[in-house]
Amino acid sequence: MLEVRKLNKSFGALNVTKDVSLTLAKGERRVVLGPNGAGKTTLFNLVAGTLSPDSGEILVDGAPVTSFTADKRARLGMSRSYQKNNLFEDLTIRENLTLAAMIAQGRTRSLIRPQHAAPEVVECVDRVAAQVSLDRILDKPVRGASYGDRRRLEIGLALATRPKILLLDEPTSGVGPDMIEAFPRLLNDLPRDLTMLIIEHDFDLGFDIADRVTVLNYGEVVFEGDPDQTRASPVVKEIYLGDWEDGPA
Ligand SMILES: Nc1ncnc2c1ncn2[C@@H]1O[C@H](COP(=O)(O)OP(=O)(O)O)[C@@H](O)[C@H]1O
Ligand SMILES: [Mg+2]
Repeated sequence: MLEVRKLNKSFGALNVTKDVSLTLAKGERRVVLGPNGAGKTTLFNLVAGTLSPDSGEILVDGAPVTSFTADKRARLGMSRSYQKNNLFEDLTIRENLTLAAMIAQGRTRSLIRPQHAAPEVVECVDRVAAQVSLDRILDKPVRGASYGDRRRLEIGLALATRPKILLLDEPTSGVGPDMIEAFPRLLNDLPRDLTMLIIEHDFDLGFDIADRVTVLNYGEVVFEGDPDQTRASPVVKEIYLGDWEDGPA
């Protein structure tokens, strides 16, 4: 479904992504773990298409997308959550989701009148709102929403495009314990055929939500396995003993 082959990326002399390869099966939830500076966000941006690799390939369903823009990848069903900046603060949560669904469904002519959304758009918004537990505050403006609810909305905006592949970069960073606790359940309730690549910093949360884990250190894949294998790995323990503050106890 999603394949990354020998990706390399440098910023000047700094080699941030080194021969990274990953293969995700359809419906797989892959978590990429690693300490700060390991190159997780860079990998995420390479996959999403906001950065171009120096070498290597990215394939979706066997077809190369490496030269495609982020928009073109999105049209092929790859959707990423954005952090901040893309929420319309003065609009309600419903209106934000409606706009995302309208754009994804190509119904841009009704953008100026989101209250006249097509039934397919309304259905999509209701479904997504329930999936990310925002149905309780759908008609409240984004301004004033808690940090956790903003993160739910960011995931909701990605889901409103009806993706095949969902990319999340540290979806719970900065949120309170309520959202951290609710997050694995939120993911569990999403369709099982949705493939996910999730960048995480928190070890325990990563293990909770992953089918498979990839561990990055200094830009390299140093381990890949299921959560139990990862927890038990001496290589992973050693990295943790270095500077991974919330790694495996
Ligand atoms: N645009 C950039 N220019 C120069 N260096 C960068 C850039 N983006 C990231 N880096 C460097 O690449 C390394 C990996 O960063 P990043 O991918 O953000 O790691 P992580 O998300 O795992 O914390 C860091 O040393 C960071 O300073
Ligand atoms: Mg990062």
